[in-house]
Amino acid sequence: MIPLQAPPAARTHNSRMQDKPMQDPIVTLDLADWKGARHDAHWTAALEAGKVLYFPNLAFPLSPQEQALLRPDVLLPDVRNISLDAQGQLKGAAGDAQVQATLAAMVGRFRADALGLIHAMLPQYVPALRIAPTSYRPAQVESRQQSWRADDRRLHVDAFPSRPNYGERILRVFANVNPAGVPRTWRVGEPFEDVARRFLPTVKRYSPLQARLLRMLRVTKSLRSEYDHLMLQLHDAMKSDARYQQEAPQRTVPFAAGSAWVCFSDQTPHAVMSGQFMMEQTLHLPADRQYNPQASPLAILGRLTGRTLV
Ligand SMILES: [Fe+2]
Repeated sequence: MIPLQAPPAARTHNSRMQDKPMQDPIVTLDLADWKGARHDAHWTAALEAGKVLYFPNLAFPLSPQEQALLRPDVLLPDVRNISLDAQGQLKGAAGDAQVQATLAAMVGRFRADALGLIHAMLPQYVPALRIAPTSYRPAQVESRQQSWRADDRRLHVDAFPSRPNYGERILRVFANVNPAGVPRTWRVGEPFEDVARRFLPTVKRYSPLQARLLRMLRVTKSLRSEYDHLMLQLHDAMKSDARYQQEAPQRTVPFAAGSAWVCFSDQTPHAVMSGQFMMEQTLHLPADRQYNPQASPLAILGRLTGRTLV
């Protein structure tokens, strides 16, 4: 659990944040069939540079039985997502056996579509991908109450306090399945290297002793590397900086109902502002199995610090 506490005071910046015009962080692609993707060096480079690949016409269609499950009370109390793990185990869902079976089939079908898309677009990744549970998110984003650190309505890059990943990438496929045409609205921020250059001078130094202590106390599931430390520091520095949230280069993007999008969420600054009913698949990839490993946060942070971080 993340402790509830007030955000520290906003940091000050030496220069205005918007001085440099930002390249569009969204690449819009015309694809209407989950099995119809192909590899493209240009899209791949954009994705690995931290851009969001947006497929406005790539809908994940639902059967009438599945559409009946587009309601927030299919969630168990105090649960944010329904998930299906690699063993086919459904978690987080309320309802009888019939409801559970329909949900499991729906989420499983999304996993197959998401994997099909990634396999066709990014064939070099395939042998190295590690597949995380697939989720269905029926809760409304804007009604959530959270501590600043857990509040994903603030721009951030994904980094997890208890699960060090040693530079392994977090690739995510999303589909908005809202039945009323409501978009899922994100803010998408500046390139990762700009985030790192902005905040690295302010972050706390890595302490191997503290990392060992966190492991001993089982706060972390394995030893927190310097990479994991820096990613968490960037995550917290971004979220806790009110001025950065307002003034950082960013674009608000309403991902339409009936669309899909893909990004590396450990690299693309994102804030989830509103929306309800989404499918999501996370895939993990070792940074050295990218088309361009030098574009990874691990390589960027290594270059900027001059240190080996894992
Ligand atoms: Fe996130």
